[in-house]
Amino acid sequence: MRIAKSVRILEAYTPGEQPKAKNVVKLNTNENPYLPSPKCAEVLKDFDLDALRRYPDPVFTALRTRIAKIWKTVPECVFVGNGSDEILTLAAKAFVEDDEAIGSLDPSYSLYRTLAAIRNVPFVPSPLADDFTWRKPVLEADGKKVSLFLLTNPNAPTGTVTPQDTISSFAAKFKGVVIVDEAYADFAKANCVSLATDAKNRNLIVMRTFSKSFSLAGLRVGYCIGPEDLIDALYKVKDSYNADAVAQSVALAALNDLPWMRNNAAKVKKTRARVAKELTRRGWDVLPSESNFLFARPAHRRASELFDDLRKMNIFVRYFKGARTGDRLRITVGTDAEMDALLNALSSLDA
Ligand SMILES: Cc1ncc(COP(=O)(O)O)c(C=O)c1O
Repeated sequence: MRIAKSVRILEAYTPGEQPKAKNVVKLNTNENPYLPSPKCAEVLKDFDLDALRRYPDPVFTALRTRIAKIWKTVPECVFVGNGSDEILTLAAKAFVEDDEAIGSLDPSYSLYRTLAAIRNVPFVPSPLADDFTWRKPVLEADGKKVSLFLLTNPNAPTGTVTPQDTISSFAAKFKGVVIVDEAYADFAKANCVSLATDAKNRNLIVMRTFSKSFSLAGLRVGYCIGPEDLIDALYKVKDSYNADAVAQSVALAALNDLPWMRNNAAKVKKTRARVAKELTRRGWDVLPSESNFLFARPAHRRASELFDDLRKMNIFVRYFKGARTGDRLRITVGTDAEMDALLNALSSLDA
């Protein structure tokens, strides 16, 4: 059996662990600790089985019309994916030639590097400054130009934010396509959607997901907004039915109950502030976070050891080895009770 060389040498992306046990405090994959809107439950309960005989709407008309209305744009400027991860894969197909490259901040969402490897083009990291803020991006490596820049904002795993002005002037100068990955924007003070809907900007797309603030990671729906020609390109390269009928209906229900999502995001932000303060009091270095997680350096223990010790206590956080990330833990903000369990465990571990 012949496997393409790029796949043979590919280091596959490792998603955060999904433990089977029920009694786990799961703070490792930035899921939302609160339930999705009851409107989603109603849709699921009443879902017409007969509708499943048919293929779903290939262009998700109802869902993208609602998204367009929320963001004061037109449905033609909206695309929906099977999770925002699918949109990233499609963007790597649509916006990158074989002799070009994909760039992103460094550190950032580690899937981007894998996506470049799957697309068989170089990945060009743009190192952030020492305090994890924006620094001049790197847009070429080995003679290959970056044609797709994936700019996570708020960034992951740092939780830090790049100001809208910085993003806007970067995009204005950049010759390729910028995707502002706003997976965590509902936990932030600001967002860049107005840049994506501004007709002056020809190369900027903003991407959102239902996986975090809407508590629907299991549903697999993400969307993006941008100039019509770029959105058209994504439609051209997608599978015919990339968003299934149940997913389209449940996501629409979630969007019809925005106060539910906002209320959950507000709870997460409140807990985030409390836990950041407490860890700081204990001597940890906690980066300012505008997302639903904290990226923090323990005061008295090595991050990698603490990760293992917490895991033994059934508390799952995320650890990313590497020069910029290896001395910190990424801790998803859970319920207050879950965070108290974490803080108590840390006390018992002298951390
Ligand atoms: C920055 C970022 N983008 C995208 C995703 C993936 O989101 P989705 O569940 O919509 O595929 C994640 C998930 O952790 C993420 O951290």
